[in-house]
Amino acid sequence: MKRVQFGRYGGPEEMSFADYTLPPLAPQRVRVRVKAAALNPLDWKVRRGDMKLVSGWKFPQGMGSDFAGVVEQIGAQVSGFQVGDEVFGTTEISRQGAFAEVIDANAKLVVRKPASLSFSEAACLPIPATTAWAAILGIADAGPGSRIFIHGCSGAVGSCAVQLALAHGAQVSGACGAASLAAVKAAGVNPALTYSDKASFAAEGLYDAVFDTLGTLTLDDGLKLLKPKGRFIDINPTPGRVLRGLVSGRYRMTFSTSGYKNLEDIARLSAEGTLHGCIGLEAPFADALSVIKAAEQGHRRLGRIVLLM
Ligand SMILES: NC(=O)c1ccc[n+]([C@@H]2O[C@H](COP(=O)([O-])OP(=O)(O)OC[C@H]3O[C@@H](n4cnc5c(N)ncnc54)[C@H](OP(=O)(O)O)[C@@H]3O)[C@@H](O)[C@H]2O)c1
Repeated sequence: MKRVQFGRYGGPEEMSFADYTLPPLAPQRVRVRVKAAALNPLDWKVRRGDMKLVSGWKFPQGMGSDFAGVVEQIGAQVSGFQVGDEVFGTTEISRQGAFAEVIDANAKLVVRKPASLSFSEAACLPIPATTAWAAILGIADAGPGSRIFIHGCSGAVGSCAVQLALAHGAQVSGACGAASLAAVKAAGVNPALTYSDKASFAAEGLYDAVFDTLGTLTLDDGLKLLKPKGRFIDINPTPGRVLRGLVSGRYRMTFSTSGYKNLEDIARLSAEGTLHGCIGLEAPFADALSVIKAAEQGHRRLGRIVLLM
């Protein structure tokens, strides 16, 4: 089978298409024929070596996390799946490889795809929606009457956070780039501001939670927007920020992994039409290297980039 892989940590030039033979299926895994895989910033952060403490030093490594496809084989200790099931899910950082024709995935990170979702729509969900779940429902505890400010409300994580917060009755304000304003207003963000309009972020009062999906608000920026018991939530770790998250009651660092247990909930909300990923571009798998490179270099668009296998 073909996959996108890299032979050492580095820039886009380290990526290549390679033939790859999967080892015998491990007991806790399912073998999935990938139909669609969505790009996440995590994919190139891992390839650059930003997470090498987790991704390790064994090469070559496959690239890609979020996927949707069809179950081909089931590990001896896995229950709840049948060959032919349409599923979606994600990979461990230590075992990426979703940009591939076939993947062996941890069965705990895979759920059945609602029939109403296309493979592309489902592939857009895992990391963005689990991260948003961890932040908005796990930490911000969004509910009727709560006020949440989402900095970067137009991105994949941001737009899942907006949908989850609104669905749980919260009032959502946020900031995004000027080109994204119309879309986020239509999604229910009110008021929707641009990043440069910082002076107006708290014009309508303080928040129960500020979720900075971009990692560009300072601690001071965030705390100024919060009610006394409010939470400032970050998802862009640096060693200093992770440390701060351990010692500060009001500043919290969270990860997609904290939302993995909610993949079934995410599938259910998507089936109900409450939560959806946004597709920006569908590209053939054969274009993977150029598409990943362009996204990494900032040629992004509203919505996820999806590779079709
Ligand atoms: N801790 C975790 O487990 C975890 C999980 C998921 C993501 N993350 C991190 O969270 C961040 C957001 O992830 P995402 O998947 O939501 O990313 P995304 O879909 O690419 O969203 C990017 C966001 O960044 C804004 N942006 C500002 N400058 C930009 C630029 N030069 N190019 C493109 N976008 C720009 C965009 O807003 P406008 O276009 O409106 O300007 C948009 O809101 C990433 O750094 C990612 O690594 C962490």
